Amino acid sequence: MKALQIVKYGELKQSLAFNEVSKPTAQVNEVLIAVKAAAINPIDKSIILGNLQALLPIPLPSTSAYDVSGVVVEKGSNVSNFEIGDLVYSRVPQEQMGTLADFVAVTSEAVSKKPGNISFEEAAGLPLAALTALQSLEYANIKANDKVLIHAGSGGVGSFAIQYAKAKGAYVYTTTSTSNVDWVKKLGADRVIDYKTEDYKNIVKNADIVFDTLGKHYSAESFEVVKKGGIVVSVVGALDEESAKMFGIPDYKLPEEIANASKEKNATYKFIFMHPNGAHLNDIKSLIEDDKIKPIVDKIYPFPDAIQAFEHLATGRAKGKIVIKIS
Ligand SMILES: NC(=O)c1ccc[n+]([C@@H]2O[C@H](COP(=O)([O-])OP(=O)(O)OC[C@H]3O[C@@H](n4cnc5c(N)ncnc54)[C@H](OP(=O)(O)O)[C@@H]3O)[C@@H](O)[C@H]2O)c1
Repeated sequence: MKALQIVKYGELKQSLAFNEVSKPTAQVNEVLIAVKAAAINPIDKSIILGNLQALLPIPLPSTSAYDVSGVVVEKGSNVSNFEIGDLVYSRVPQEQMGTLADFVAVTSEAVSKKPGNISFEEAAGLPLAALTALQSLEYANIKANDKVLIHAGSGGVGSFAIQYAKAKGAYVYTTTSTSNVDWVKKLGADRVIDYKTEDYKNIVKNADIVFDTLGKHYSAESFEVVKKGGIVVSVVGALDEESAKMFGIPDYKLPEEIANASKEKNATYKFIFMHPNGAHLNDIKSLIEDDKIKPIVDKIYPFPDAIQAFEHLATGRAKGKIVIKIS
């Protein structure tokens, strides 16, 4: 079967190649998915560039990407929750990475039936970004009337997070650049902050939750707008001590500027690394089918143009998800 593989670490064009590889089979706890569509995420790019070799080591060559939608064509003897012919979607576990291929074998616990009211391409764009938003906002215990700031509302994670927070009844602030303001408003955000002309720190006060999808100086700075006792959940900033332990980093200390900023506000800083979860994907399926959330796809590329899709991702300007149609 055909697969887009990472053959070495480095620049996208030099490191990715289409290879013929053998078709996987479903092990006892797995389903084999005939891939209809896959989506790419910033983590895929970071892996290719070699930036995550210490945290997420992979053998080379390895097929790229984690997000998939498709049809179950084979199932292992222990799999009782799926049948051949089911239409499904998944963020596959780390050791099963490789959705840019004709087939992928996936632990059934990481799989869910796909929402029935959207296309395979739309469904493929959801898992990683949607699970990230859901798991981060649920960690922060989001509830009705919370004031939530979501950095980068036009990104794959942000565009889902806005809609999820609105579905929970929160008041949502989000940031984006001028040309994206109008469509981000349509996602339901109550106050869209144009970061080219406005400073979110002058607008957001006493937020219950800040969802940091930008990292860098934004992580510490976000404590300026969070309420006393609030929480900054980051998916890009520094690890916290607990997550550092999870990644096997001993004697880790939270960077001083974050530790001081969080202490001053008696607020929590938490780094979230999303995890595959079929049950959460099933919750997301319901939200999509109930029309509470719409999938946001920036562009669909045909499989032979997948390297161009990565170049699009690398601009950092995607509006929602970048999807690759496989079959
Ligand atoms: N820890 C985890 O488990 C986890 C999971 C998923 C993602 N992540 C990380 O989360 C980050 C976001 O992921 P993503 O998939 O949403 O990325 P993405 O879709 O590539 O994000 C692109 C968006 O970011 C916006 N943006 C860039 N700079 C901005 C700024 N200064 N202020 C506001 N918006 C800005 C851009 O909007 P404009 O063009 O308008 O600037 C663009 O729409 C990535 O760094 C990714 O690696 C982590």
